[in-house]
Amino acid sequence: LVSGQLAGQHWLVSAGPTREAIDPVRYVSNHSSGKMGYAIAAALRDAGAQVTLVSGPTTLDCPDGIERVAVNSALEMLAACQAVNPDGFIACAAVADFRPAMAAEHKLKKGQGDLNDVHWVENPDIVAAVAGAKRRPRWVIGFAAETENAIDNARAKRIRKGLDAILANTVGDNQAFGTDDNHLHWIDAHGDTDLGHAPKRVLAEALVRRIIDLAKE
Ligand code: PMT
Repeated sequence: LVSGQLAGQHWLVSAGPTREAIDPVRYVSNHSSGKMGYAIAAALRDAGAQVTLVSGPTTLDCPDGIERVAVNSALEMLAACQAVNPDGFIACAAVADFRPAMAAEHKLKKGQGDLNDVHWVENPDIVAAVAGAKRRPRWVIGFAAETENAIDNARAKRIRKGLDAILANTVGDNQAFGTDDNHLHWIDAHGDTDLGHAPKRVLAEALVRRIIDLAKE
């Protein structure tokens, strides 16, 4: 349906979790599987775009015809995203908001209170950095993973981060993270649209179709 419509465009997609090292054997992360972001990358490819997929650690194979850049931490993900200058960026990664200020050089020992002494610092906001860059892509689209009031929280997040649109999904209770299907709401400056509950592949296609339609207006 959307075949060839993004030909000549370069799109960047972030997907999966980040891992923030505590010591050489431990990290903090989240339940993102990468499925939603990988489905979006494949849908963009099917629409004819050149796609760079910056991916945190997942068990997924890289879809054919897509360049994957594998990263671990949020800082690595930021650097990989800033290394490309795309026409559009879809930030689907579940980036850890915090990291230990310094990963310990040696494995922390139990019984000495070491873990209580880990000092946490905030990670940079990758999608906000891209949206605020001098050479801003034409499209910067984020996701909002919410456990309550998904639409209202996502609306505020879109404006705070300077995004053209945001996809709201409710997480927790076995929803969105790691599942094969999802329920998404598209939110932009004009309002919001329920994209419904469907397999992630189907939602990814609906999302790409929406971008193509809006670009024609
Ligand atoms: O990977 P799956 O198992 O398929 O699950 C899909 C998903 C639930 C991970 C996905 O649909 C989703 O919601 N991704 C965003 C998860 C998230 O971290 O949401 P957030 O509300 O915390 O962040 C809002 C936006 O800012 C996101 O676009 C996120 O990529 C971005 N962000 C957040 C923090 C940060 N330091 N840098 C960022 O760029």
